[in-house]
Parts: sequence; C-alpha cells; structure tokens
Amino acid sequence: MTPIQTPNIFAPVSTPALAIRDLSFIVLAITGAIFLIVAGFAVYTLIRFGRRPTNPEVEPAQVYGSTQIELAWTVVPLLIVVVLFLVTARYVYGIERRHQPPDALEITVVGNQWWWEIRYPKLGIVTANEIHVPVSDAANPAPTFITVKSVDVAHSFWVPQLAGKMDAIPNKTNRVWIEPRQVGTYVGQCAEYCGLQHALMLLVVVVHPKEEFRAWVTAQQTAPAARAAARAGRDLFSSLACVNCHSIRGTPGNGVFGPDLTHLMSRSTLGAGAVRNTRDNLRAWVKDPGAFKVGALMPAMRLDDAQLDQLLAYLVTLR
Ligand code: CUA
Repeated sequence: MTPIQTPNIFAPVSTPALAIRDLSFIVLAITGAIFLIVAGFAVYTLIRFGRRPTNPEVEPAQVYGSTQIELAWTVVPLLIVVVLFLVTARYVYGIERRHQPPDALEITVVGNQWWWEIRYPKLGIVTANEIHVPVSDAANPAPTFITVKSVDVAHSFWVPQLAGKMDAIPNKTNRVWIEPRQVGTYVGQCAEYCGLQHALMLLVVVVHPKEEFRAWVTAQQTAPAARAAARAGRDLFSSLACVNCHSIRGTPGNGVFGPDLTHLMSRSTLGAGAVRNTRDNLRAWVKDPGAFKVGALMPAMRLDDAQLDQLLAYLVTLR
C-alpha cells in the first residue's frame, strides 16, 4: 500500500492548477526582481559606504522636496501593482468564466466536522472523503464541476494539484472545476480552520482512465452482495443506533450525519485520513473512534467483543 501522501503545490496536473502555477511564477519573477534590485542596492551601500568615518560637521545631501524622486517612487510601484493586478484578474477570469458543458460530471462536496461527504447527484452515488473522476485529454475533455457546501462551519476544499482553494460555507453554494490530465491519486486537505480535527480532513482524488471510471461508477451503483455469514452482523447494525447517523443502501440505515457506508471497504482510510481502512483498524474505530480522532462526533458504541466481531463480519463485506 502506498503511504498516505501529503498535498503538493508544485506538481499541478489540472487546468486551473496549471494556470495558478503560471501566475505564481509571473508574480514571483516580478517581485523577485524588485527584491534583487532593492537588496542589491542595500548591500552595495553597506559595503561601499559602511566604513567611511562619520564626520558630524558634514551634512549629507538633502533630497527632501525633490519632485522627480517622489514621482519616481510613487509612479513606478503604482505601475507594478497595476500590472500585477491586471495579470491576476486575467487568470481569475480565465478560470471563472469556464462554462459547464451539459455532459460534464457533476459532484457535490459537503464539508462536515470533520469529513467530506461526496455526492454524485446524476449518478446516485454517495461516498465520503474520496473523489473518483475520469482523466481529461485534449481530444476528449472531461472536466468535473464541483459544488462546494458545508453543513456546519466554514471549511475549505483544496486539492492543490487540481485547483485553487474554495471555501465551503454554511448556507452558501460555491463552485470549482477540475480537469485532471494525468491518471493518479491526488491528495487534498481542508484549508480553513474548522475545529479540533481540522488537520484530519483529508481528501483524496483518484483520477481514472475513462473505462476504469465507468467501472467504478457501476460498482458504486451496485448494492454490495448480501452474504449469509454477514446476516447476523447486518441485523445487529440495523438494531443499533448506527442507523441514525449512517446510511447503508438496502438496510434501515438512512442517517446522514455520518458517512454513507454502502461501499465502506472501497475507501482507503477511516476518519478522513485518521487511519488506514483495515479490518483491525475498523474494529478499533467502531469500538472507540476517539482513540484515533479525539473529538470525532461518532460516539464509542460500547459493544462487547462478540458484537464487534459480528458487526465487523458484516462491515467488511461492504466492498
Ligand atoms: Cu474542515 Cu478545516
């Protein structure tokens, strides 16, 4: 298993992220040149005049009131700022004016304390913390348009290799789009302080070849196969308070406070990046989520070992 990566701002693979990198380089070049000129003069002055003995009798040249100098140091910085503003506005407009083609993939990402709900409204898929999208190429552009919302406090949706930050704000709908040109896994993170576990709001975007993406969609749309051995655990799940917060298609569980568990085992982490999604970790998580994620809103269910084993036997079938 590959280790959980960290977000990377230096390797953009999607149209908006590439534009943001280009703009950063332009701004860095201009401001870097200013820095070199100013620092160069400062260092030159220090070296050239630093050792001259001071003579209190001699007054330095007085330049106060020189219109030329004052105009120069007002107008030149103003022009530089105007150039920076215009270049930035052009890039921002270039990203924002992109219209959504009718056949574009649509996703809704909802920030929760402290995880992400991912919905595919047109495909009838609900999942958590992992976004799956098709790769886009020049001949067959396949952009994904993402609606960003929040159910509680302000979060920020940020996958630096794919697009800029977009705030997730309660009672407000924001939009962002991505167009990844390379198959791969890209990591994001909540970028707005949202409480105790702000650091554990990992986002993973898996970019698939088109065929593979269609297969993922079909797998997610299909209900997990019912296994006889999991029957007792399924009944136990249905009888516990789990169902108030979690949904599993085909069970009485239709809660929306916690992640949809229909395809729980298809996801790589638990608790939005808190820990790898393995059988042992899942068991420990159900026993006491706070052991991995202090403050997680899921309570410790106080199940005994027999109940845990039963429940686990069911949960691991949710592929
Ligand atoms: Cu959600 Cu920080």
